[in-house]
Amino acid sequence: MGNLDKKQPLRHHFQKHAHQPFNIGQMIRLGLPYYIRYMNENDLSKNLALQAHVLDNLKKADKTHYIIKKDESYLRKFLMKGNAIIGTFLHKGTPGLQDRLAAHMLIVYPQTEKESGLADPTLLPDKDMETISVVSNILVHDDFRGNKLMQIMMDEWLKIAAADGKQHAIAEICVDNEFSWGVFVDCGFSIYAHGYDARDGSHNVYVHKPLDRKFLYSNDPGDTITLQLFDNEKGVLIESAHERLKDLLNQGFHGVHFDRKTRGLLLKKCTGIAPIPKANIPAPGNDNIIPK
Ligand SMILES: CC(C)(COP(=O)(O)OP(=O)(O)OC[C@H]1O[C@@H](n2cnc3c(N)ncnc32)[C@H](O)[C@@H]1OP(=O)(O)O)[C@@H](O)C(=O)NCCC(=O)NCCS
Repeated sequence: MGNLDKKQPLRHHFQKHAHQPFNIGQMIRLGLPYYIRYMNENDLSKNLALQAHVLDNLKKADKTHYIIKKDESYLRKFLMKGNAIIGTFLHKGTPGLQDRLAAHMLIVYPQTEKESGLADPTLLPDKDMETISVVSNILVHDDFRGNKLMQIMMDEWLKIAAADGKQHAIAEICVDNEFSWGVFVDCGFSIYAHGYDARDGSHNVYVHKPLDRKFLYSNDPGDTITLQLFDNEKGVLIESAHERLKDLLNQGFHGVHFDRKTRGLLLKKCTGIAPIPKANIPAPGNDNIIPK
């Protein structure tokens, strides 16, 4: 994929390779065999059905802002513009479940700030959209949650984005959606900014993983803070902690680790960004992504 002619729209590539599995495995909890593949416009009814199911099953308080609902014409244009959708399917040999879509995610290659889909594109780390990939609409059907499918698809996204020469992997997630941003932090993303989305009234965190560089953090003990973000009894975000989080992010702290048991977020003061020696950059994995 790194060898692709950059002028050739990636959609040709993604669509040509739709229906060719590039990650085959077994779900860690359920033991069911799955495969991941690119999806194309013939799959959209599956994407829409998964989205409708996940939305229907969200808690009432979360329905309004966890997911920005996409309709068919949006998804069609999305694919036409050279973005990608990857899906995790139950493997062909799974009786009664074969080829059922268990999870999907939208991989955005924005050409303009607006196309990034972020509420506040000024928070993007680079003005050059060629360097950016954003992920959105990450959905795992509740029948298959707890199998790390989001993390598995994210690993594929990071390989795909790196192979396409992108430098920044970015996402925007509701601050109270710890099941989602917790996975980003587990995958080495840093929570680096906070924003308000007037489209749905949500307060969001922005996560960033540089693909060819790494953030540097202060070793000063005063620059490491653990923030108890959630009230474990009531299960809700603590408003004062939320305000403190905004302050700390504005002061240059990053959220770098989340303890799922205590629900404490570890923040460290970021002091800069440094290149990763080429030898230590994970191989883009062209061979596993694109079956020949
Ligand atoms: C966020 C999401 C994709 C993560 O799904 P996943 O990959 O299956 O999550 P994981 O395998 O990492 O789950 C880790 C643990 O969290 C639990 N968990 C995951 N999502 C959960 C949810 N929404 N509610 C309650 N528990 C959840 C899992 O059961 C598992 O618990 P366990 O370790 O005690 O068994 C999934 O929750 C989801 O589809 N949520 C709704 C849509 C959404 O919010 N998308 C993100 C928009 S950016």
